[in-house]
Amino acid sequence: MRMTDIIRKKQYGDSLSREELSYALKGYVEDRIPDYQMSALVMAIWFMGMDMEETAELTSLMAASGDTVDLSSIHGIKVDKHSSGGVADTTTIAVGPLTAACGGRVAKMSGRGLSFSGGTLDKLESIPGFKVDQSMEDFTRIVNTCGVSIIGQTAKLVPADKKLYALRDVTSTVDSMSLIAASIMSKKLAGGGDKILLDVKWGSGAFMKTFNDALELAHIMVEIGRRTGIQTRALVTDMNQPLGNAVGNSLEVMEAIQILRGEAEGDLKELIVELTVHMLLLGEVSSSREDALKRITRALEDGSAVRKLQEMITLQGGDPRVCEDITLLPKASRVIEIPAPADGWITAIQTDEIGMAAVILGAGRMKKDDPIDPAVGLWMHKRLGDPVKKGELLAEFYVQNTDVLEEARNRFIKAIRIGRKPKSSHSLIADVVG
Ligand code: URA
Ligand code: CA
Repeated sequence: MRMTDIIRKKQYGDSLSREELSYALKGYVEDRIPDYQMSALVMAIWFMGMDMEETAELTSLMAASGDTVDLSSIHGIKVDKHSSGGVADTTTIAVGPLTAACGGRVAKMSGRGLSFSGGTLDKLESIPGFKVDQSMEDFTRIVNTCGVSIIGQTAKLVPADKKLYALRDVTSTVDSMSLIAASIMSKKLAGGGDKILLDVKWGSGAFMKTFNDALELAHIMVEIGRRTGIQTRALVTDMNQPLGNAVGNSLEVMEAIQILRGEAEGDLKELIVELTVHMLLLGEVSSSREDALKRITRALEDGSAVRKLQEMITLQGGDPRVCEDITLLPKASRVIEIPAPADGWITAIQTDEIGMAAVILGAGRMKKDDPIDPAVGLWMHKRLGDPVKKGELLAEFYVQNTDVLEEARNRFIKAIRIGRKPKSSHSLIADVVG
């Protein structure tokens, strides 16, 4: 087999066989195929696409490229949850403990922030002492003890994705539907869950900017699951405004704690509840939506949801007192109010730019190994459709380094459109696939 023949075949839109995909991928991971040839193949895939069979084959080849996690020592059905990434999306930190409080099992490997989108590991690390790096033995022990653990991916999980993702990032080929689906699903398959629940975001704060693209991605990933024997369900959800109010690591943990204590309402809570319903249904803890909702309401009211988070924090080396006293979480030295520049209604939010404003304040990374500041970020006080008066509070910025304040403020103000007429927002849960 020759790489040049494989590239050419895809250039003309033909389907590649499992053998051809394996030759290219294995060769690339093992450094026999150079970056420039893989770039050419990936670019051909970007233009010509892959059919469902190729996409599923590529996914299983990628999943098998490194370690796979064995969760068989954890009792019960393990449902893995994955979000395609967004702004103020703190669902995982709440859905994990809430599911466990309702009788489910969650053994979850999460990621770090990427571009404008926050990452669960960065958020959890804002809890003093919390360790996301755990051995597989400790990971399974923690899940068996308290029902939930959230850790970082091991270094050897899906090396093919690490290498390919870095190549796509610098060759402008990240946004290929098949390659995104294979990238996400290969990590889920290697992660060892019995079933998968996906939250595929669409809108200005998602990687998929249109509903139709998100729906197509959801269908592809659910079909990959079907073909590889892992039942997969995808919710397609709105990300045309920050999901919660908090954008930034310790701020998002605070908001998750408030929700688990039953003290906050809104879209973030609504989505946390909806995702947990599906976690309990897929995990066969509940046989009906009504039963799932009953368990969830009880766990939020009787304190067992927040106690699960507390248990997980303790078992992962963190300070559990943060759940009782959120002021023990890192807090920025200055809070600066951002007033509305005009009268009107909030008609549109460029949500990725809100994420970037938080990144500029220090909540995320510009380059891969940049340090982040757990304390900084912003807290939104208005949502899409809300009326505003000039000078009224739009948001608070939590700031340590005032040198970046102006840049962050300008990005933020430009991202919020204030119109003369009210406009309604999209429905939070747009579709369920699988
Ligand atoms: N998230 C992933 O893990 N992979 C992609 O390709 C895009 C988003
Ligand atoms: Ca084809």
